[in-house]
Amino acid sequence: MKVLVVGGGGREHAIIKKIKENKAVEQIFALPGNAGMSDDAVCVNIGAKEIDKIAEFACDNKIDYAVVAPDDPLVLGAVDALTEKGIPCFGPKANAAIIEGSKVFSKNLMKKYSIPTAAYEVFNDMEKALEYLETAPIPTVIKADGLALGKGVIIAMTRDEAKNAVRSMMEDKVFGKSGDNIVIEEFLTGPEVSVLAFTDGETLVPMVSSMDHKRAGDNDTGLNTGGMGTVAPNPYYTDDIAKECMETIFLPTMNAMNKEGRTFRGCLYFGLMLTPNGPKVIEYNCRFGDPETQVVLPLLKSDLLTVMQAVTNGTLKDTAVEFSDDSACCVIMASKGYPEAYEKGYELKIGESVKNDTYVAGAANKDGKLVTNGGRVLGVTAVAKDLKSAIGGAYEKVKEIEFANAFYRSDIGKRALKALEEK
Ligand code: AMP
Ligand code: GLY
Repeated sequence: MKVLVVGGGGREHAIIKKIKENKAVEQIFALPGNAGMSDDAVCVNIGAKEIDKIAEFACDNKIDYAVVAPDDPLVLGAVDALTEKGIPCFGPKANAAIIEGSKVFSKNLMKKYSIPTAAYEVFNDMEKALEYLETAPIPTVIKADGLALGKGVIIAMTRDEAKNAVRSMMEDKVFGKSGDNIVIEEFLTGPEVSVLAFTDGETLVPMVSSMDHKRAGDNDTGLNTGGMGTVAPNPYYTDDIAKECMETIFLPTMNAMNKEGRTFRGCLYFGLMLTPNGPKVIEYNCRFGDPETQVVLPLLKSDLLTVMQAVTNGTLKDTAVEFSDDSACCVIMASKGYPEAYEKGYELKIGESVKNDTYVAGAANKDGKLVTNGGRVLGVTAVAKDLKSAIGGAYEKVKEIEFANAFYRSDIGKRALKALEEK
């Protein structure tokens, strides 16, 4: 079998490594991939948003199965384009990917179907938004409607900060058209949990829960990033909470999308906050999370490609999806300065003993050598019987990786471990 994976980061590398475990897979192409994954896939210089070229490549190379991993191509209709060409494909069509592509859509969906989420108002007029903020409860949360590279959410601790956020989105257009409409929502508190789920629109199977670490610095300080590390399972996510989420959030979301004529097939990501008033949806993503995937897939015991194909074929109900009881920890190694300005082009050395557990996000080839080529350079994952050993294992592996100006958080999993000990 020939498989194509659209995307080029650590998440895609984790998906590729897992798909490779299937003996029927002869070749995997990554579009565009990155040089750090070239042992596992043939990287092809086609961008993830070049939908027509992706579909053409898939036809020309007689691809048997395609996986579209990032949000942009999903929202732009990559799955629609591949499906039209007869290529079986993992991921939602554009009319379902809107669940991530538009916050206004997802908030209105949750309101219509009584799915618990933060109270909110939608604005397309800046003056009205500013007027609303005169009396809105503070802190408050301002969200740009469309995709904004994960940066479209501003938690405003004061009224002035909130107004500035609105002006930057609606007047200065810092996120372009994504700021034409904005959501202003209630500030929620509580532990955050990420739950990824396979769904074919009829059956929904949650994967093991996980915890992201979004801030750049230790003890959750510094700027928001794409994610500096993850652990799985998330100790705050008890069996009781899982049951409640299935009944009040997961299945109602799947059913709501069906009722709207927007059946979601693929990986549906629930960003949850466990508030004092129960679990609520912070965000939906229409895809695997990054770096959640780097801890969730290593715990998957079932064959990933088989599960993905069942999602495409609508046979998930008859397919085993099993996770191990182990724990996993992924530490992201970034370039100093990330998420702001950073340098790249430093030689990257990954020890042989950790190659299998390293998911490269940003690397290039320069004069035959692997060099850094991104803010987040890679993630390294350890799996162990318990969380403490997984954390220890991941940090041991970090020592086997070298590049100039590397930086990483030293406390990934610390809060989770504390929560576990307090249980
Ligand atoms: P998002 O891009 O939607 O994941 O938001 C980024 C982060 O902002 C989330 O992971 C939360 O930590 C935080 N956040 C988003 N919405 C809220 C909210 N209503 N209340 C509190 N924090 C929030
Ligand atoms: N880790 C959060 C995301 O993938 O959006």
